Amino acid sequence: MKPPLTLSDFPLAPTAAAPQFIHLDSDSSDRSDALQALSDGLSAEAARVSPKYFYNALGSKLFEAITGLAEYYPTRTEAAIFEASHAQIAAALAQRGLQNPCLIDLGAGNCAKAMALIPHLRPRQYVPVDISVDFLKDAAAQVQMSFPALDIVGVGMDFSAGLTLPPQVQSEDRVFFYPGSSLGNFRPDEALLFLSDMANPARGQARGLLLGIDLVKDPATLEAAYDDALGVTAAFNKNLLLNVNDALQSNFDLRQWRHVALFNAVQSRIEMHLEAVCELNVRWPGQQRRFSAGERIHTENSYKYTLDGMSTLLQLAGFRQIEHWTDSQQRFAVFWAAV
Ligand code: AVJ
Repeated sequence: MKPPLTLSDFPLAPTAAAPQFIHLDSDSSDRSDALQALSDGLSAEAARVSPKYFYNALGSKLFEAITGLAEYYPTRTEAAIFEASHAQIAAALAQRGLQNPCLIDLGAGNCAKAMALIPHLRPRQYVPVDISVDFLKDAAAQVQMSFPALDIVGVGMDFSAGLTLPPQVQSEDRVFFYPGSSLGNFRPDEALLFLSDMANPARGQARGLLLGIDLVKDPATLEAAYDDALGVTAAFNKNLLLNVNDALQSNFDLRQWRHVALFNAVQSRIEMHLEAVCELNVRWPGQQRRFSAGERIHTENSYKYTLDGMSTLLQLAGFRQIEHWTDSQQRFAVFWAAV
């Protein structure tokens, strides 16, 4: 008689080891500072909330949906530049002895951009970093499935507060990967400080930076990219209020707010705001605020650069041997800058 079947008679696909994951949890004093900053921003005459509040688990999914929209040209344009130029990019790194870098992916999200580059840049270690911890954990596990032998150290942290990485991240041959034009969320003076920190060998320990940045173009194209017909960007913007409600125990009602995106040509930036559709009150512990109809909360700046402007910024920050690649319409640019 045959023995009864057991689970081992049904071999599953081999599973990759789960990647290492480090959650650099801010301490309680950092957390209360962050809540104070959030509360202060909402109480300010011109109300504001940091764009980092977009990225709870739902916000990361909504952003992923944005990257697939017809109007949102940055993600696919950047992917096409990487696709066309990966050999030259790899050569620029190799020239600095970076044949097998430690690739540190800032704001890695779903890790899709890095996944396309890993076969070409052949990192010894891959370090996806993101504030959206649970979303990143899943994404890092997906990367591990695709590259079972790759050393992956996922890091959940808010890197806008500083670039100090945990000791599991190798200190040699660090290349920062900062794609998607996320640098555009900083004001240019803040971007200069952030990049200077990165280029400072004593701080970020970087050997170089691979940066993706959106370029100045006609306002209609820019505004459509931030106010799509399907309303996904509007949902992404409003979801910030749900995240704020969770963080601050506030009582924002999403039906009372409308999405606004506009190009500010003087400052060369897209601005996103949430506008009160009627007079309303919002409460949170120890505070409350009245918004009149039409009053706005500023939720994001997305600065747009020229090729010369970004080259200058990188030089001022202390980077050298700056090279760039762009698409035929010069919509978006990828920069390599060595330390
Ligand atoms: C992730 C900051 C690069 O500015 O284009 C997309 C965020 N906001 N649509 C950008 C965003 C609205 C995005 N970054």
